[in-house]
Amino acid sequence: MPFKYPFIVFEGIEASGKSTQIQLLAEHLQKTDNDFILIREPGGTDIGERIRAILKDTSYLNKMTPETELLLMNAARAQLIREIISPALEQGKIVICDRYYYSSLAYQGYGRGIYISSLEQIINYSIGNLQPDIVFFMDIPLKISRQRIIKRNQQLQSKGIQVRDRFEEADMDFHQKVYSGYKTIFAQEDSRFKVINATEKTEVIAQNIWNILNG
Ligand code: TMP
Repeated sequence: MPFKYPFIVFEGIEASGKSTQIQLLAEHLQKTDNDFILIREPGGTDIGERIRAILKDTSYLNKMTPETELLLMNAARAQLIREIISPALEQGKIVICDRYYYSSLAYQGYGRGIYISSLEQIINYSIGNLQPDIVFFMDIPLKISRQRIIKRNQQLQSKGIQVRDRFEEADMDFHQKVYSGYKTIFAQEDSRFKVINATEKTEVIAQNIWNILNG
């Protein structure tokens, strides 16, 4: 029987546990006979990963304009959809995507202040008609997100690794707007939207997600 939700998207602020849950979902799916792929945005293609490096580069911290940011995000997305996502779905694979256009609404729209109507035009051009079948919003308070980032960076530093990220280094006002933006987006009536309490234990969250997908 084909899987009920072939195109699955995870959304949320930084360190909300998306990647962990995607890995756990992959482990669940590996035990079934479903073929699947995991991808992330921005990125997921050669072109997209190069765009990602530009987008994350901290030397553009106060330099990259919101418009450029929006267009680069959507350039990477346009490539990812046509090169990877649509062909995979056509081959009957499940596609699990770490972020999709809701991130552009939250970060470039609510966060950077680009008008939602102009933003939607760009997004629609980038995605064509490709809508996900289900979208999990990993909901954690901003404070927990910040604590997790600090802890993760300290752990990396203790191993001599320094990772810098233009988004993580943006000011708190921006992050607050992004978080409230997400809440506004996912408060909308849409049966595809599933808000997950991402402060629960990792295994509990994974089970909740699995139950929803098999419900
Ligand atoms: P991540 O892979 O750690 O989630 O990093 C991607 C960053 O890019 C994250 O801070 C959110 C941001 N982003 C946007 O601002 N707009 C978008 O459309 C996408 C896909 C990501």
